[in-house]
Amino acid sequence: MNTTISLLSNSVDQSVTLNGWMFNSRFSGKIGFLELRDGTGTTQCIVNEKTTPAAFEIAKTLACEASVAITGFVRKHPKRDGVYEIDVQEISIYQNPTEEYPIGKKDHGPDFLLDHRHLWIRSSKQAAILRIRHTIMYAMFEYLADNGFTRLDAPIFTPSACEGTTTLFSVDYFDLGKAYLTQSGQLYLEAAISSLGRVYDFGPVFRAEKSKTRRHLIEFWMMDAEMPFCDQKQNMQIQEGLFVHVMEKVLAKHRADLAILERDVTELERVKAPFHHITHKDAVQKLIDAGFEAKFDDDFGADEEVALANMFDRPLFVENYPAGVKAFYMKRDPNDDTRVLCADVIVPGYGEVIGGSQREDDYDTLVKRILEHGLLKEDFSWYLDLRKFGSVPHSGFGVGLERLVTWICGLKHVRESIPFPRLINRKAP
Ligand code: 4AD
Ligand code: MG
Repeated sequence: MNTTISLLSNSVDQSVTLNGWMFNSRFSGKIGFLELRDGTGTTQCIVNEKTTPAAFEIAKTLACEASVAITGFVRKHPKRDGVYEIDVQEISIYQNPTEEYPIGKKDHGPDFLLDHRHLWIRSSKQAAILRIRHTIMYAMFEYLADNGFTRLDAPIFTPSACEGTTTLFSVDYFDLGKAYLTQSGQLYLEAAISSLGRVYDFGPVFRAEKSKTRRHLIEFWMMDAEMPFCDQKQNMQIQEGLFVHVMEKVLAKHRADLAILERDVTELERVKAPFHHITHKDAVQKLIDAGFEAKFDDDFGADEEVALANMFDRPLFVENYPAGVKAFYMKRDPNDDTRVLCADVIVPGYGEVIGGSQREDDYDTLVKRILEHGLLKEDFSWYLDLRKFGSVPHSGFGVGLERLVTWICGLKHVRESIPFPRLINRKAP
């Protein structure tokens, strides 16, 4: 019977066949210990020269990462509860490498590993990260579906910028001039709220970020959500609910993976409502008091953001940024025209993972903002229509999936949070 390593407990003392890859083997006299990986787990397969000489002969020829089918009896590990081993009867080979596997036990530099990303993702840490990434994504879908959101797939080719013109990628679009790769599906979601109510998208977005940092990818995945009849306060409540749900799911399913990653889970267990709130103004004052050179009318630098996040024990909403550092669509604070109704969620030890705001819903004001930001009114004529035909107060936010994965997994660099990272100096493999 074919089975998988994750299901071995169902077949104790029965004969099963596992399909997988050999990632290690050692021999001690007439006994061979083969470590098999099948995508659902790893297990030890024990082959005995005396009882199964043919299988033993094959076992001795297997190179690291050979793909094989191993048939044998499932045995409970004599000492470790919940661990199973295979008492091997037969081995057949799909393919046996003739070259040495490039990724060994020795420490490799990041460039070597990134050049071999197609192989590196087989390693236990990288697989743990990718499994957690899947759960984070899935937990978001779950939360959104349970809270009345409909998914809307926004286009990748777009006629204009959503998040400023400095990070736009352009492509030649037949006879229609330039098209740009999307920076966020937000503007399209704003159109969809009048059709579907609460909506979200989840897809790749692109930013031609000219700087090399540990937090920036060129291509990353964003979940944008948009809600009609929703102010910035309600917007933050939904973000908090989503984040808490994601954290609960990851902690429930991935203790073993987090242990592989040596992640301190106490920090993750503190992700509970209510999150902290601080205004940008108060945050700047706190940073100045702590000896930083933060400015009341400017964004935080990366170090300042981390220092600020570290003053709190759980995620923090930083509210009301100066209008000058934020996007054209954000609604001004009615009590202070120099600031916008927005918040970034920043997390301890890392910084921003979510950005959200209430949107400007008045036609004339929005035209003014578009022009103030040096954008062309014609490019946004469809978007401006939304303020002509039943405009409503509305808000939304965008979660950077890789930032969240990086923080939850406790990674130093965002490049390990996505299967095949696109960085300023890397577009392969
Ligand atoms: O703060 P941002 O730029 O917000 C928007 O794009 C809005 N349109 C979202 C919305 O309101 N619907 O990006 C959202 C999130 C950031 O908080 C960050 O987590 C992530 O996207 N992000 C990046 N992640 C990786 N690499 C980059 N270059 C990123 N730029 C932003
Ligand atoms: Mg942002």
